[in-house]
Formats: sequence, C-alpha cells, structure tokens
Amino acid sequence: MSAKPPRYASWTAGKLPLPELLEMKRRGEKIVMVTAYDAPSGRLADAAGVDLILVGDSSGMVVHGRDSTVPVTLEEILLMTQWVARGAKRPLVIADMPFGSYEASNEQAIGNAVRLVKDGGADAVKLERGGTTIERARAIVGAGIPVMGHVGLTPQAINTIGSFRAQGREEKDWGPIEDDARAVADAGAFSLVIEAVAEPLARRITGQVAIPTIGIGASPACDGQILVLEDMLGLSPRVPKFVRRYGNIGPGIEAAVKDYADDVRKRVFPGPDQVYGMKKK
Ligand code: KIV
Repeated sequence: MSAKPPRYASWTAGKLPLPELLEMKRRGEKIVMVTAYDAPSGRLADAAGVDLILVGDSSGMVVHGRDSTVPVTLEEILLMTQWVARGAKRPLVIADMPFGSYEASNEQAIGNAVRLVKDGGADAVKLERGGTTIERARAIVGAGIPVMGHVGLTPQAINTIGSFRAQGREEKDWGPIEDDARAVADAGAFSLVIEAVAEPLARRITGQVAIPTIGIGASPACDGQILVLEDMLGLSPRVPKFVRRYGNIGPGIEAAVKDYADDVRKRVFPGPDQVYGMKKK
C-alpha cells in the first residue's frame, strides 16, 4: 500500500508558484489580479482563472461601508483571508496589512504578517507606501514571507494626502514615487502595485524595476492589472475613473430580493417544493 501523501500536498499542488510571476514578466504575459472578500468570490475568481487574489483593505469601503481604509483592522483582514483561502486554490492569496498593523516596529510587522500567513492562510502580504515601510518590507521578507509593495496613491495615507486624487500628474512629482518603487523592489518585494498615477510614470516604473508591476489606474504597460471586484461588478456606489464595469449585478440582486419579498407577501413562497413532508412509514 502506498504511503499517504503529506497533508500539505493537497494545497500546494496546483498553487501558482510565486517565481512564476517573474517569468510571466519576462515572457511579457499579463498577470491578472482581483480582490475577493469571502469564500464564494475566492472560488469564482479561481474558476475564472485569475493569478492573484488580494484580500484588500478596500473591503472597508466597498463592503463594510466606511469612508476610508484607515479604520480597517487586522482581525477583519485575517477573517476574510481565511474565507478567501478556503475558496481559492490556484491563485496566490495576498493579504493587505491594514493601517496600524506594521508601522510601529519590525517586530510588530513580522508578528502580524506571520498571523496572516499562519492563521489566515495567506501566501503573501501587501504593504503600502515608501518611507519606514521599506524597512518593514525588508524585515518581513527576511522572516520568509513574500511581500508586495504599493506605491502611487496609497489610500492608508488619506489623512496626510487629503484626497484620493491621482499622483504624479506633474513631472516634478515623479521623483519620490520612483524612489519608493525602487526601494520596495530593493527591499525584496516580489511585486508592486502602482495605484492611480499618471500613465507615463507607471510605464516608466515598470521599465525600471525587475519585479512585476500590477496597475490600477496606472498603465496598460504594467505587467498586470488589478480591479476591486465590487467596483467591476457594479456592487459598489463608488466608480473611480480607472474602473471598467464588467458586470452590473446590483440591479439583478435587487430584483431577485424584490421578487422573493413579493412572493412571501403573496403567500406563494415557500411552495410545495420548498417544504418537508412527513417520512413515509
Ligand atoms: O485594498 C485594495 O483593494 C487595494 C487595491 C486597490 C490595490 O489595495
């Protein structure tokens, strides 16, 4: 009788290997990334063939009704990561480190990144900004956890930057964004999100760094693209310029719930098919 396969075989088998992303950049093959916040959306994104799934702190705005991502907690991201990881098997699941979960020290950053991987089932974590984030990214990578960077518009800094406006639309503002991108790559990040920056700047950064760039409101020249699922499906009231709606399922959900409500009120739901009879003797 053959030996039982090790317990990890079932989830490592079929998982996209992280180094493959670099190969995709080399081959000029686009990387597809989307957000997901629960098991069904993780499963559907996997079935649709995406490469990467982000459990992003945009969840705070698009599913939890907040005005910004600042109040999102580690516990929320941890729970959602568990749900998504149960649904998505092949794509790499990347957990966003929320504001306040990595700024204080390398120890805090490593501790929380480890929780997202060990308890959440994340394959990697994402950190926003440059500055002290660079040191945190290096520390987390040093602890053996893959890190994705995030430059350009960094919504966790809303209290400092004051608006969700696109960045780098004047050439004089490019320097710090390019510096952050290079520093995150040098710190060992495996990939970099570029959010809401002038197109020529995103194109330039993509040419400057060896790691794959993932654009959102950035450039078609980025090595991959990400969209927030609720934005692209018409489930979120906000419609940033960089969103293309690939579906509009909000009205469909509303209509279905209305039909259900009408049926309940007209006493036609539940019908004979939705109730249990007695067991036949
Ligand atoms: O939280 C999020 O959804 C993100 C993407 C916009 C990259 O950080």
